[in-house]
Amino acid sequence: MGQASFPEMYERWLVGPLFRPWAEVTFEEVKLSPGHRVLDIACGTGIVARVARERLGAAGYVVGIDINAEMLAVARTVAPDIDWRVGNAGALPLHDGEQFDVIVCQQGLQFFPDKPAAAAQMRRALARGGRLAVATWRSDEEIPFFRDLRRVAERLLGPIADLRHSFGDAALIEALLRDAGFHDVRSRTISRRIRFEDGAPLLRLNAMALVGMSAAGKAMADHERMRVVEDIVSGSAPVLQSYADGSGVAFELSSNLVTAKG
Ligand SMILES: C[S@@+](CC[C@H](N)C(=O)[O-])C[C@H]1O[C@@H](n2cnc3c(N)ncnc32)[C@H](O)[C@@H]1O
Repeated sequence: MGQASFPEMYERWLVGPLFRPWAEVTFEEVKLSPGHRVLDIACGTGIVARVARERLGAAGYVVGIDINAEMLAVARTVAPDIDWRVGNAGALPLHDGEQFDVIVCQQGLQFFPDKPAAAAQMRRALARGGRLAVATWRSDEEIPFFRDLRRVAERLLGPIADLRHSFGDAALIEALLRDAGFHDVRSRTISRRIRFEDGAPLLRLNAMALVGMSAAGKAMADHERMRVVEDIVSGSAPVLQSYADGSGVAFELSSNLVTAKG
């Protein structure tokens, strides 16, 4: 893992077990038809756009937008034929009059500083009769595996507000979308058993994320951050042990899936 960039590690270790299954669930809920135009907002390394492309075939019109050019560089390497654009969810880089039949924002909304602006942009980009799907993780208090790992980190760093789990209240997402003019807004909580063949990379990437989100971690020099990541990883061994599944690790994970019409 040492030489790889964060986006490369995200794609290599997390996308298959942690993100692809939810993209599949989303397109079971919001069915794609030939000719559909699909927009993946906060696409990261592009798993939602890629699953859409798999389902639509090479003729599919699929666009992925993310604020982080390094995530998009990996997306471009994996799927060069998809239209990847650097941009902010609060000011989508769309062509004049460009609209989509299906818009998905998977595990992105919780990070947007201006959520009403992002919802307004989604509404503007959705074609008449189109469908929107937004997924955010539930609070980590409802996800014992991630709650237990956070508690290990908090013993070293003090309280951590985990942004990844910061918009888990489906009622807030529903209200946001209704206020932006969407209708038929519906939400459900979906839980799945997630399994990693090797839990070690997940543990390390999660520790890096927790350190980065903590006030103490933000104030540290790089070498201190690296040391505390090692301490969290070794301190998390008992958690990993208690979720062991054969040679891997398995746990229940819950996400909101909120759908709406334009
Ligand atoms: C957890 S990743 C999810 C990526 C992808 N949707 C997936 O399911 O793998 C969150 C992504 O949100 C992106 N992001 C955060 N703030 C953003 C913003 N304001 N506009 C666009 N993308 C943003 C990050 O760069 C990151 O790639």
